[in-house]
Amino acid sequence: MPAATGDKTVYLETFGCQMNELDSELVAGSLRALGYRFVAEPNDAKVVLYNTCSVREHAEQKVWSRLGELAIRKKDEPDLVVGVLGCMAERDGTALLKRMPQVDLLCGPGELDKLPSLVASAITTRAGLAQMAREALTTTRAEDLINPDKVRLVSANQVALQGSASRRSSTLAAAEDSLELLDLSRAISPLDADPDKPRASAYVRITRGCNKFCTYCVVPFTRGAEIHRPPEHIIDECKKLADAGVIEITLLGQTVNHYRFEHGAAVMVNGLTQPQKGRSFTGGHRRDPLAGSNVTTFADLLRRIHDEVPAIQRLRFVTSYPRDFGDDVLEVIRDHHRLCRYIHVPAQSGSDRMLKMMNRGYTVAEYLEFLDRCRTFLDEPAKGRPLMLSGDFIVGFPTETEEDFQATRDLLTKARYKNAFIFKYSPRPGTIAFDKLQDDVTDEVKRRRNNELLALQNTISDEISREQIGRTFEVMVEGFSRRTLRKMGLSGGQMRQAGTIAITIGGRNIDPSTLGDAAEAESGSSCSTGTSTITPTEALDESDNATVQLSCRTDGDQIVMIDVPARRAASLVGTIIPARITAAHALSLQAEMV
Ligand code: SAH
Ligand code: SF4
Ligand code: F3S
Repeated sequence: MPAATGDKTVYLETFGCQMNELDSELVAGSLRALGYRFVAEPNDAKVVLYNTCSVREHAEQKVWSRLGELAIRKKDEPDLVVGVLGCMAERDGTALLKRMPQVDLLCGPGELDKLPSLVASAITTRAGLAQMAREALTTTRAEDLINPDKVRLVSANQVALQGSASRRSSTLAAAEDSLELLDLSRAISPLDADPDKPRASAYVRITRGCNKFCTYCVVPFTRGAEIHRPPEHIIDECKKLADAGVIEITLLGQTVNHYRFEHGAAVMVNGLTQPQKGRSFTGGHRRDPLAGSNVTTFADLLRRIHDEVPAIQRLRFVTSYPRDFGDDVLEVIRDHHRLCRYIHVPAQSGSDRMLKMMNRGYTVAEYLEFLDRCRTFLDEPAKGRPLMLSGDFIVGFPTETEEDFQATRDLLTKARYKNAFIFKYSPRPGTIAFDKLQDDVTDEVKRRRNNELLALQNTISDEISREQIGRTFEVMVEGFSRRTLRKMGLSGGQMRQAGTIAITIGGRNIDPSTLGDAAEAESGSSCSTGTSTITPTEALDESDNATVQLSCRTDGDQIVMIDVPARRAASLVGTIIPARITAAHALSLQAEMV
């Protein structure tokens, strides 16, 4: 059903990484504060927004096909507003408007603070055009005006992109300043759901952008230069989240362990410390050499959040870069029990030749030495705290031989990740690899290497899972398992709507992350954001002997399924409970409450 005119209904779907999920949550909060209402189905919305990812071609294709569908719908609904946000908007820029004239607004990830005014202008423009089209229905030009391609000729698109400005230091502070305000203005309880059941997990950004320029990667171009947020802002945000009931925080940054804030930078008229470019901790030191001076290091930041926000029972961070990860950070994790024993540290390849061509800045030997150091400090299975590692790999990077691939297999075997994300190389326009290297590994070879690596990782994941049998862990109950939700009649589409859609289960609203394993965040997955409520078609059977399956997570990020009495299930969601592992599969563990 198309929305009624004047109804400020928004559908927002998110693609890509956790950074994008957080951005969606923040813009949803700012739109909601202005009276917009979020809906779970695009057809119910007057404004359809896609927060996009450009990291691989596949991620972009999904958005192209969504936009294609909207072009058809727009022929009947000329006042529909279509917006592309995020990395794809930034990467494609106005070329996207030429290819997809049904798009009314573009907003790059560095400009999201401007989104409310872009949306408002786009609504006004579209309403005006629709009105003109209606009035022209009696004229011979009616066809022209209703056709979105032609309407485009008289329409003013709303565009906010950083372009190359994001890497010009003179404009950096100004550009980042308003973005900092977007994070600061976070609507802490965005769900408007059951106030007795606030959300339990949240993301907090500590660093924006990336300076690494790995040769295959678009992120430095779409997200701009690396900027570190002031520690006071981060800690305040954590405190507010904790006050709103959050007990688990994941700190976000593309190279999160590079966090480093130099104090004493200019204080601006509005009282904010000027966001600064920050100097990353580089040079392979084992400890940040400026620790203790006027610098807040990553280790300092972790310690401060741990000590100053004790209500946060779990603190994690993603994604780590395998260089410049000091022992000081490992010591802080070891000595502060609410810091999780989980490190996601992509290697990308096990071949030094490939790593060099990728501009990763480390060798396989250095990477393995780092993993050894992590294990020495943090792997304490006897204390119920085994260290869990995960990684990313790219197969089929230009010129990758069978020998290079074998080296990646060897690294995977040695690293013993609990899980690994494996991607086929996808050439991205604008990157160095795209310009300088021919994509010469065939898709068939990429697919085979991808499958072989996945199979090998599965065996390793399975072994690591088995090692956990008999151990007892504190697990965070994230929500109902996919199996339970399916039994309750939720469709696959509804299960993907893991953003901030409230779900009514057992007569109460459940928090956004509660789709549990159904909401498993993974690059390339998508979710929509809103405050609408999904009610399963089957009510939860809460009779005495009925059980349901809950999806939980260890602090090492392993997924644990627990069968619990149905009548207790909803009250356990969002809490941390002890559980003993009884069985293991490659990707999840089975446990019982103790
Ligand atoms: N900042 C993170 C990763 C961001 S992108 C880091 O450096 O670890 C997430 C993952 O996507 C990367 O780790 C990489 O494995 C993959 N990736 C990035 N660009 C890619 C490309 N062009 N083709 C295939 N995979 C890519
Ligand atoms: Fe991309 Fe490399 Fe930066 Fe990660 S570190 S975001 S892979 S350029
Ligand atoms: Fe994230 Fe994709 Fe952009 S991985 S940073 S949304 S290109």
